[in-house]
Amino acid sequence: MLPASSDLEDKSSLLDLVKESAQQVAISSVLLAASVAWADGVVQLNEKNKLIEMAKREQELDPNFPFDKVTTWLSKPPSEQEVDAALGVLSQDSKSSEYIVRAQSVAEAHGSLGINAIIGTGIIAFLPIWLVFSLVPGIITGITVATSLKLYSSTNFKGISSEEETVLNWLSESLNEEGYDLQSRIKNSNWKNKIETLRTVMDERSMASRQEKWVPPKDTKPVQCPQYPERMPPSVTDIADSEYQEFRSKIVKRYMQALIGETWSSLEVAHNLPQSLDDELLNDIYWNSPFSRFLTAEFTDNDLTVFQTFFEQKSSEDIFYKIDHSHLKDQKTYPGVYIASVIGLFRLIDEGLQVVSISINDKSFTPNQGESWERARLFLLQGSSLSLVGGVHASLHFPTDSVIAITRQYIPENNPIAKIIEAHSYLQLPLNYGVRWSPRSYAHNSPREIYTAFPGPREDVFHGFMTYYEGIEGNSAYPNYQFPLSPPEFPGPYCQALKQYYDVILEFCRTIANQSDLNNLVQWADELNALVPGFPSGKEIENSEILARILTGYIHSVSVWHYLEHTLYSRLPVHHNPHRIRVEPPTGNDLKTEWWQRTRHTDLFRQEIARRMFYESHTVRNMLEVEYDFENELLIKAAKRFKKDLTKVDESLPEELQLLHDMACSIQF
Ligand SMILES: [Fe+2]
Repeated sequence: MLPASSDLEDKSSLLDLVKESAQQVAISSVLLAASVAWADGVVQLNEKNKLIEMAKREQELDPNFPFDKVTTWLSKPPSEQEVDAALGVLSQDSKSSEYIVRAQSVAEAHGSLGINAIIGTGIIAFLPIWLVFSLVPGIITGITVATSLKLYSSTNFKGISSEEETVLNWLSESLNEEGYDLQSRIKNSNWKNKIETLRTVMDERSMASRQEKWVPPKDTKPVQCPQYPERMPPSVTDIADSEYQEFRSKIVKRYMQALIGETWSSLEVAHNLPQSLDDELLNDIYWNSPFSRFLTAEFTDNDLTVFQTFFEQKSSEDIFYKIDHSHLKDQKTYPGVYIASVIGLFRLIDEGLQVVSISINDKSFTPNQGESWERARLFLLQGSSLSLVGGVHASLHFPTDSVIAITRQYIPENNPIAKIIEAHSYLQLPLNYGVRWSPRSYAHNSPREIYTAFPGPREDVFHGFMTYYEGIEGNSAYPNYQFPLSPPEFPGPYCQALKQYYDVILEFCRTIANQSDLNNLVQWADELNALVPGFPSGKEIENSEILARILTGYIHSVSVWHYLEHTLYSRLPVHHNPHRIRVEPPTGNDLKTEWWQRTRHTDLFRQEIARRMFYESHTVRNMLEVEYDFENELLIKAAKRFKKDLTKVDESLPEELQLLHDMACSIQF
């Protein structure tokens, strides 16, 4: 699994290992599906033709594709051992073998079919092939998928035989963590639907064409994005191999584990509706989650027109906020996927927020409008999710890359300023490089990856980043990016927590700044002033308070803010902030739909596996573990006090925000 040395020369391939995981998922899926297809003892001619068609397509993509093997697989069903291994891979559940044994014995006791006779014979050769092939990039890719899953679906939807049903139940039980009982057997009867969802995603994967690779110029200085010069934060492309290796072993490895081991549970999530969405939950999300960072009390003339009725009824004590994602009107989507220009209007109340109205494409809706309202709510949440992941969160990631690179070049490593920047830079540069430039990155939204879920082409994803980086003049919902020299300012407990941490970090950084010779920092600041909007120039660092605020802005963004945003965002179920919506935006005269018609299982599955891979916080190095290696006694004491103060902040926060024990010290996801 170690990267080939040639990979080191082409850093944009650093997520390539993920491909192997996708293949394992695909192969495991096929194995399960194949065992079902074989359950009635024969695979039909048309199924064989489809399989060959798929294999040919894969061969066109990859000349090394083992076409001959496909024909072998047509004639032999998978063995029990293979199925066992596949289940173990997909469910990553140590108990799965036990369930298999139990379920198997139950199936046999029912006398419905000789499981051993059906799946057991012959194909022990398959497992070694699978194991070997998973190590060879490009070999098994889409056979997998499409092939056997096609086989499965063709039988599934043309009337399933009792033998197949029995095998399905057996497999279902094998994957059921709650063990075997009649209740769970009934509850898990959507097993076939989950396989179908996986098959569809795998089909999308094998049918999609490769995207052109974006390759940045390599330079020791941060470089402009060749596709959108000056419109994205400069990118650092000169990164030490040791950093890449650390990134691969600590982060990419986890992506692979999640992709392989959490596919099944992600399908489970996609097929089960969590708590249903209502106004109370919507209000709670906009008050407590990171979506609160979009709240603004300043309105444009257009807002006042669209929400005229509500502003006319507003009492003098009422405070209104809006959530504005009107920039989405300019973005394109894939066929059948919808987004909308959306603005939510909220009233501040004692407990938080109360939604008043939501406008979609400049038409306002209210809570008494049934289906239209339900759709309006969903489009608002979709807008916030896209604007967070594909907008403001990127501004926590990328602009500070330049700070790391320029600090390394201009400030000696034993300088306390260099030490604190370095301590909070762990894994950031290789991770951000992967996000920006790897064709497998979530941001590049290639349909060839099973974990991509943005609603439209890569260009539109990047336009989202740019919109929030450049801002939109005259609309307070879209301030342009400025390097932070003060704490964030928006309503709600999320911002309160951010501010409390900010104060403690500022206290610490003041001590460091007071010990620093500002004259040595002029060139450093001037370089960064040219690269990062709002970064003070050498001339502006005239007193140590400015320097303290620069250091605080950096540490706070890459540690506290970045970590809390991931953790709180990833707590939202994907059903409540779908990236892809499959019904049109409301018009006021809308036919009733159910939740599973507004979204698709395949899209929810993609977003759920992405949520686990990229959004959930998986801290490698904790905030409290950071070593600054100061030599100055005063600074050593300051660092100790800093950690104590962080702990005090944590203890003072509401329980759901007490997360310091797991808080990453830098951008690690
Ligand atoms: Fe992040």
